[in-house]
Amino acid sequence: MRELADGETMTPKVRGVEIHARSARIARARVRKAGGHATITGSDFFLLEPTASYSAVIGNPPYIRYQEFSGESRARSRAAALKAGVSLTGLASSWAAFTVHSALFLKKGGRLGLVLPAELLGVNYAAAVRKFLFERFKSVQLVLFTEQVFPEAEADVLLLLAEGFNEGPTDHATIYQAQDAEALASLSTPLRWAPLDPSAKWTGLLVDPDAIEPLRSLKQAGHFTHLETWGDTTLGMVTGNNSFFALSPARVTELGLPRKDLLRLSPPGSTHLRDLSLSAGMMRQLGRNGRATWLFRPAAEPSAAAKAYITAGHLAGVDQAYKCRVRTPWYRVPLLAPADLLLTCMNADTPRLSTNDAGAHHLNSVHGVYLKPSVNELGRDLLPLASLNSVTLLSAEMVGRSYGGGILKIEPREADVWAMPTPSLVQARASELGAIKECVAKLLRSGNLMEAVAMVDQTLLLDSGLVTKTDLRNVRTARTMMATRRASRSDRGR
Ligand SMILES: C[S@@+](CC[C@H](N)C(=O)[O-])C[C@H]1O[C@@H](n2cnc3c(N)ncnc32)[C@H](O)[C@@H]1O
Repeated sequence: MRELADGETMTPKVRGVEIHARSARIARARVRKAGGHATITGSDFFLLEPTASYSAVIGNPPYIRYQEFSGESRARSRAAALKAGVSLTGLASSWAAFTVHSALFLKKGGRLGLVLPAELLGVNYAAAVRKFLFERFKSVQLVLFTEQVFPEAEADVLLLLAEGFNEGPTDHATIYQAQDAEALASLSTPLRWAPLDPSAKWTGLLVDPDAIEPLRSLKQAGHFTHLETWGDTTLGMVTGNNSFFALSPARVTELGLPRKDLLRLSPPGSTHLRDLSLSAGMMRQLGRNGRATWLFRPAAEPSAAAKAYITAGHLAGVDQAYKCRVRTPWYRVPLLAPADLLLTCMNADTPRLSTNDAGAHHLNSVHGVYLKPSVNELGRDLLPLASLNSVTLLSAEMVGRSYGGGILKIEPREADVWAMPTPSLVQARASELGAIKECVAKLLRSGNLMEAVAMVDQTLLLDSGLVTKTDLRNVRTARTMMATRRASRSDRGR
């Protein structure tokens, strides 16, 4: 339902729109009970021509995903948004067009209050809506919840209060955090968030400005940079059928495949990348544990055993998988050179970099980082270690996206802007970092990530006098808050 409130009379007059007859009746009853006078029109909201005549528009629009939001209804909603100059992609969920269309009913200076999914902050298709809000309103306020407000609904929600329609632009948003709906009565001090580009995603905005300050000044002083300064991050290889192409040593023996038809492979998944490096010895151990450490990649002239396996694959229909069908021959996986570093892209704790000492190829369950020649040796030796500092961990939470199940996902484009110590800082601290390397590796092997990070923080940041203990505490608290927020969402089974 959309409720269009004209709150300037003694008895608030509320005009509403609701497509569903029963919900319209409930809405009428609720407004009456609250002391208002309701006129609810039963209609598709997008069939209403906006008149810029209301002082306030409030609503709780439907969140219909693009898969289900189709046909005429979607076409109408996109046309309505386009009237406000907002071009929504075919991937946009319904709330995006509702937000824009709602605003067009406001007179100059009007206010918009909506319950929206937290997707507003991060998804690409909402970029145009974020930009619209900053451009058209004088002020934008958001309330984010640390706990789920509507337990029966799938989505995390936030509250949007945009004021001063057609009196914008504004260069910042004011962000409040509340635990739940009850906490709305006593909101804490807000954060001021001023993005350079409002259409860029807003997810980093949850960070306390005091925590970002060390990152900003470390960057400005040339001690921190982005991962792309070190090298390129790219997606891994796609086989089309991992169970056919990725083989354990035992399976290789069973099939009688010779070495020339095989390439060393970092096994599918990334749980094995928890150390500073992936070594040949670890690969052997993974293979003994039944993990797929070989990629079936037949030589130009496949062996007899490889030919038999190809035939078996053909009979089983492996060649019909989309990725296999579109390449010639279907059984030759397009190769990427082994990367210098492997980067885990789906993480419960934090993205990890490991040096690829085994020279293994990798699949798309991890990203490959190809270091620039000028920093190759230094990066292979020390970047995975140096990256385990609190500033880099905080940055990962800001550039990555919180995925279902509490997972932090990082895409290559996001990894490009992930904060890392600069080559010159790592070089300057090389001997000190070298001295703690083995100890940090042991801590990682025993699952003590945060102790390992504390050790790197001490060596890289505190001993060198680059940050104070207070700075570091702020950074760590902010990182813990973001990681906990992400994890608490998974506890609720979403
Ligand atoms: C999240 S519910 C909110 C219900 C109620 N307004 C509330 O706040 O409790 C979204 C409502 O939007 C209605 N709706 C969905 N598509 C609509 C459309 N195109 N035009 C008008 N209402 C629509 C649904 O029937 C549903 O009642």
